[in-house]
Amino acid sequence: MSRNIEILGRSPVILQLKALARQVAVTDVTVLITGETGSGKEVLARFVHEHSRRSAKSFIPVNCGAIPAGIIESELFGHERGAFTGAVQSRKGYFESADHGSIFLDEIGETPLETQVKLLRIIETGVFQRVGASETISADTRIIAATNRNLHQEVVDGNFREDLYYRLRSVELQLPALRERGSDILLLAEHFVHEFESKHGITFEGFTPESTELLLRYPWPGNVRELRNLIESLLILERGKQISPDILERHLVQRSRNKSLVHDPVRTEKNELNLIYGSLMQLRQEIGEIRQMLQQLQPTRITAPQFLLPVPAGQEPPALENDATPPKPSIEEQTATLEELEKRSIDAALLKFGGNKRKTAQALGINERTLYRKIKEYGL
Ligand SMILES: Nc1ncnc2c1ncn2[C@@H]1O[C@H](COP(=O)(O)OP(=O)(O)OP(=O)(O)O)[C@@H](O)[C@H]1O
Ligand SMILES: [Mg+2]
Repeated sequence: MSRNIEILGRSPVILQLKALARQVAVTDVTVLITGETGSGKEVLARFVHEHSRRSAKSFIPVNCGAIPAGIIESELFGHERGAFTGAVQSRKGYFESADHGSIFLDEIGETPLETQVKLLRIIETGVFQRVGASETISADTRIIAATNRNLHQEVVDGNFREDLYYRLRSVELQLPALRERGSDILLLAEHFVHEFESKHGITFEGFTPESTELLLRYPWPGNVRELRNLIESLLILERGKQISPDILERHLVQRSRNKSLVHDPVRTEKNELNLIYGSLMQLRQEIGEIRQMLQQLQPTRITAPQFLLPVPAGQEPPALENDATPPKPSIEEQTATLEELEKRSIDAALLKFGGNKRKTAQALGINERTLYRKIKEYGL
């Protein structure tokens, strides 16, 4: 069993948590880890995995908050060939890849409600279906979930299923905030000093007693991550010299100011991933839409439906009497660019549904986000 992960800390609350984590690690029970950002949820999840009989198998972390709703199920459960546009091959999901190992569902509070039903089913019965498959399969995968949201509040707000919440909560490992861990702050600071001294080849002259006091009093909203980042920048920017309270204060103030402008690096990376996933999804959907449109518009010439035709320049639109047939437009009039067609379809649908975006998007068979983008793009 490889046990590289250590949860540093000697405060009673951490010792208790570690004992509980060891105790549940050897079972296959689903675990929910809660705690503020940067408090060490992922470290604890790895600790649980490494102290389980599954330690030689995969630990697969999945950031549920970074995967767009449209593809989360195929990512988790896999898909069959042809399940959706672009599914040219069948593919295993994370649950199958983590067979005999553990899956870490990070930010589980951000999972869409439809997916939550499927997660509950896996927890209760151990079975699931690949997207587009008719048969159910099972995987021996242990679930470790984490959240920094108040899941109870999410249940109250209707964003999280109550049954899944109670199922997950049966074993909850609560990570304390760093400010509640007393002298662990100094123990962790010392650990990070050693880490960065050797990483950057710097000798650190230490903190004055007053700045040590300040380290203990500071509330650490970013928890262990904030402490680790602070120690690294102190060592580098102050070149190892002794840290007085005013230097420390300056760094703490600067960091909190920067943080409100630029998010911390992990969040930024997450956002970028999110954007990339989002764009890929949109691209896939648009290719599908264009393909469908082309199939409908065969052969070669793209013919506009009558109600979308442009009014020839200099002419008034023909006044339609109740049962009057409008004059047949020439072939040239009947052709329009795809863009023009799209614009007019959206315009007409918006009009039809009194500007209701959800209904319009549904009628056009596109998602709401695409509709918003197109409205903006065409200045509708
Ligand atoms: N007990 C610990 N011992 C050593 N390092 C720790 C400990 N707890 C956290 N860390 C370090 O702090 C940083 C943040 O930890 P981690 O990513 O596990 O936090 P998190 O709770 O998952 O944060 P987020 O909510 O932002 O996802 C990491 O660099 C990790 O190595
Ligand atoms: Mg995390």
